Amino acid sequence: MDKLIIEGKARLKGEVSVSGAKNSVLPILAATLLTDEECRIENCPNLRDTHTMIKLLRSLGKNAELNKNTITVTSKGKTNYIADYKLVSTMRGSFCVLGPLLAKLKMARVSLPGGCIIGVRPVDLHLKGMRALGAKINVQGGYVEAKANSLKGNHIYLGGIFGSSVLATANVMMAASLAKGKTTIESAACEPELVDLANFLNKMGAKIKGQGSPKLEIEGVKELHGTEYNVIPDRIEAGTFLILSAITRGDITIKDVCWEHLSAIIDKLEEAGFVIEKTDPPDCRAGCKIQLRVKRKINPVNVTTLPYPGFPTDLQSQFMTLMAVTPGVSVITEKVFPDRFIHIAELNRMGAKIMREGASAIIEGVKQLSAAPVMASDLRASAALVLAGLVAKGRTEISRIYHLERGYENLDEKLTNLGARVWREKE
Ligand code: EPZ
Repeated sequence: MDKLIIEGKARLKGEVSVSGAKNSVLPILAATLLTDEECRIENCPNLRDTHTMIKLLRSLGKNAELNKNTITVTSKGKTNYIADYKLVSTMRGSFCVLGPLLAKLKMARVSLPGGCIIGVRPVDLHLKGMRALGAKINVQGGYVEAKANSLKGNHIYLGGIFGSSVLATANVMMAASLAKGKTTIESAACEPELVDLANFLNKMGAKIKGQGSPKLEIEGVKELHGTEYNVIPDRIEAGTFLILSAITRGDITIKDVCWEHLSAIIDKLEEAGFVIEKTDPPDCRAGCKIQLRVKRKINPVNVTTLPYPGFPTDLQSQFMTLMAVTPGVSVITEKVFPDRFIHIAELNRMGAKIMREGASAIIEGVKQLSAAPVMASDLRASAALVLAGLVAKGRTEISRIYHLERGYENLDEKLTNLGARVWREKE
């Protein structure tokens, strides 16, 4: 296993291009199970999670190849409806093959995702949606077994105790695309990655309306055909680089970004005192740029994470690192994954002053973090440790960086190109 060594007090300058959105690619790859025809997906990031999903598709009877940043999926002929524990437990997102397998094969046996470091990962909303479409669900031996002679459209309320669910919405949207009749999903998740999925499905011949709003309307069709698609830029990577620019007071231009997907983080950075300059149009990809400037004294701000368009939980740990070195007191509250605070202990080892109080963290900003050997644990918590290492005094060593490789394509190369002194060493 590798560890990442980071020289602190980095001064960063230059341009960085955002990779394709991991959380678009995963459900879109699952959606290729809905057709036997070829699908080509472009702008895919080369990540551990992408490779895990490719392995899962192959185990389900598909040919799937990643060539540079394009994934081509074709059918091998025979199909398998069992998504096994080994793969699903390494990446909870792979639970989103349930809907497509059920819709295409009328049966599915998918391992329960199990919990992970950010919290319990229940699937009650996924199963509620499958049952509403007419599936018989049996949960035993750590697996969900779903069967249906045919799926029938229905009116489904998909809101949970934490609000909408991204992948439950994805699963139901995909299953409903091949159900008989019309499905309405209320309290659907509005994340841009689900808009991407709906647009991909519509290019396959699905009839989905309302994507990006809490109410989806899906007219089931008999079959879906192959297509090609270009995935949106990764807003979480873009947001991570915006926070990187803020925390290092760097002069970084972030390219190929849809900044309209970043409104919540831009709003909080502006509230803190940063000035964000962006080129139009907001949703363009090639060449759309965003830059952050410092115009006045930066002050602490409070944040509460919420489903999109609220402040993304996937940027919570990175923003906490920024507040950890911003003089004053701020409070960060997690309304999506209330236990997603594993990074607090590691940041405190670097001299931060953060106290957890239930689903909130109270952060007293310090002047300077100090380097320390720390351990990556969750994909986004690892990004927070990289940000901390870049501003800390001294040389930080981050072990278990495979967590980072799950969601950030060539991060060390991108940082080096901006002037950071980071390199890998064997653990
Ligand atoms: C997606 O996970 C993302 N993963 C996560 O990103 C992201 O943090 C999360 O959405 C929230 O935005 C992918 O897209 C692959 P949820 P998902 O269902 O769909 C509760 C990353 O770093 N819930 O929207 O699994 C759940 O416990 C990853 O890229 C139920 O109660 O998240 C949570 O509290 C980490 N019942 C809340 O809803 C259910 O049936 C939101 O979870 C499902 C979820």
